[in-house]
Parts: sequence; C-alpha cells; structure tokens
Amino acid sequence: MEIALSHPELGYYSRPDLTWGRNGDYETSPEVHQIFGYLWARQIEECWNNLEQPSQFDLIEVGAGSGAFASAILTWLRDRSPECFEATQATLLDGNPIRLEAQNRALQIRGFNTDHQLLENWLVNNELINGVIISNEFFDALPVHLVERRDNRLYEWFVEMAGSSFKFVLGDTSTPNLEKYFHQLGLQSGESSRAEVCLAAPNILRRITDRIGRGYLLTMDYGYEAKDLYASWRKMGTLMAFQNHSPQPDPLSMPGQLDLTAHVDFTTLAWTAKDAGLEAAPTVSQAEALTALGLPVTLGAAEKRAHVNVARFVEERRAAAQLTDLTGLGRIRVLALAKDGPLEDLLCLRSIEQAYR
Ligand SMILES: C[S@@+](CC[C@H](N)C(=O)[O-])C[C@H]1O[C@@H](n2cnc3c(N)ncnc32)[C@H](O)[C@@H]1O
Repeated sequence: MEIALSHPELGYYSRPDLTWGRNGDYETSPEVHQIFGYLWARQIEECWNNLEQPSQFDLIEVGAGSGAFASAILTWLRDRSPECFEATQATLLDGNPIRLEAQNRALQIRGFNTDHQLLENWLVNNELINGVIISNEFFDALPVHLVERRDNRLYEWFVEMAGSSFKFVLGDTSTPNLEKYFHQLGLQSGESSRAEVCLAAPNILRRITDRIGRGYLLTMDYGYEAKDLYASWRKMGTLMAFQNHSPQPDPLSMPGQLDLTAHVDFTTLAWTAKDAGLEAAPTVSQAEALTALGLPVTLGAAEKRAHVNVARFVEERRAAAQLTDLTGLGRIRVLALAKDGPLEDLLCLRSIEQAYR
C-alpha cells in the first residue's frame, strides 16, 4: 500500500495529473466549494485570538492536495481579518516534490507568499511553531497493516505476486506492535474479521505534535473511535479503493492508479496526542463543526442576495448540502487538539445551541 500510494514515480500521489474534485477519483471537502475553507478560516482566526494574537502565527497544512483548502483560508483571512492575515506564515507540507510544485503554483496564482516543504524535512526540523496545524483526509491516506484474528491469534495479510498480478496471503504478523496496538486499546478485532492497523498515523502525529510549541492541531478524516472501528460485525474492515468516484472491488488491481484509503482510529490518535502533552476534545462530525462555524448564517446571507445572484445562492446551497451530508462528507470526524491554549470552547466544537446563542 505504501509503494502503491507513495512510490516517487509510480505511486498514486506522485501522479502529475492528480485532482481531487469532480473529475478526480473522489471529491474532498475543499474541492466542493471555497465555503469549506472560508468557514474553517473563522476557526483559524479564533485560534490566533486564543493565542493572544501573536505577530508571527504559523499556519501549517499537512497533505495539502491541490492547495484549495489553504487558498480559501488565506483568501478569507486577507479579506476579513487583515491583522491575522499579516501575522500568518503559511506552510504547505506533502510527500512528493510534484505535489509541492503544484501547490506552490496554485497559491502563487492567487497572490499568496507561502512556504512548501516535504513533510519528512519539516518533521526533522526541531524549531517549535506557534499557531495551527490543519489536515483534511491526510491520516486516512496513510498505509495500513491488514490483520485478521483467527482462533484468538492475530495474523497479517501480505501481498504476493501471482503471475502478472497480486494476491493476498495470510501469515504471521510482521511486527509485535500490531498485537500491542490492540492490547493498548484494551480490545480485540473480531474473530475472522479483517481489520486495518495504521501504525504510521500515531507515529506521524507524535512527530507533528513534537513541533508544536503552543497552538492547535485540527484534523478531519473518515474514521471512528476504536470500539466502533474494530467492532466484530465489521467483517471486511474499511480498506477501500476508488477510481472515478466508484469503489473498486480489488485494491490490488492497478497499483498506482487507484486511490487506497482506510478509516482512522481516532481513539489512538487522541491518546497519542495526550501522551505528548496535548489536550484532546471528543471528535465531532464535519456536519456539526461546519454548522457551529456558521454555515447556516452564510447560507442565510446568500439567500438574502439570491435575487441579485441566484447562481451563487444555488451553488452555495448545493455545496452546503454536500459538505454536511451525513452519508458522505458530513460524517467525516474532526479531531481538535491543543497545547497551551483553550480547547473546550473552540468555535467548531460548540453545540448548535451555544454557537447561535
Ligand atoms: C486524500 S489527499 C487529501 C488532499 C487535500 N487535503 C484535500 O482535502 O483535498 C491526501 C494528501 O496527503 C498527501 N500524502 C499522502 N501520503 C503522504 C505522506 N506519507 N506524506 C506526506 N503527504 C502525504 C497526498 O499527496 C495528498 O496531498
């Protein structure tokens, strides 16, 4: 999975023509409409205020895709919160120089002066940052171990050549860390059920949090708490392959051409962050977060202007429905973490009642 996604030339995320919108293999929230980034920009502004409006405020995006999310956030800050914008030093991180170049071009065209770095290079720098780290669908794009428990013993599915194609073969686990992972959670994956374990996710999260001096990390991904992710009824786990918006039956076919993804274990991510000295809030759905960030108000304003610009209103209403659809993007979970900054009352976490009081 790691090679299929990240091989420097043949990996899925190294493809020069990769897009994440309607013409890609799947549509991410920032590609649906700029409204997504505009709403999150309010959260970024609140974090800047919570950190006492530092004159140098770091905004880091991990796994920045086309650059659409960062572009929308910076556009809103420039137009609506100029002081915060002035203080913001934005850095986009990704795993491949091709992605960094595309992101750099996208931000430059919109007039933004941003920094672009390979995630691995950024992680080995030990300077502490003061600001916000964001990511959307980054952790669910990391490679996983595929495991299965049989007769109460954990095995691992490996990938082997079979003629000119690939097949899964069952073997002993490649590392004791897989059994340890379940042990730490105090649960077991279901008997005869496939399940994914992403050892890379807590590892990278820990390294990211080690770079936070003071600030926040906001991450959005498809995923569940561990007890739901590893529920015994989930017989085939969550590993999925996508092409042209359609799930593909065989994740081993067309390596490098299919997007591969597996749901995130938010329990382990939150524990990892707490272990690193951060505070973690219970996750909320994207539908809840965007509503708390003011989506209904934004829509209401567009509705009032509908007679002037009906196309814009219709477009924003469609985007709002898609971004909050609980069978689609709206069920993405938002994990908010804080180091030395107030967390509980963060705008995106407020209940609807609090947000509209
Ligand atoms: C599913 S895409 C999401 C893109 C963007 N955040 C969005 O929402 O449209 C995953 C992103 O993470 C990057 N990525 C995947 N694996 C990575 C890794 N190991 N290190 C750094 N970036 C990685 C990909 O290149 C891509 O930009």
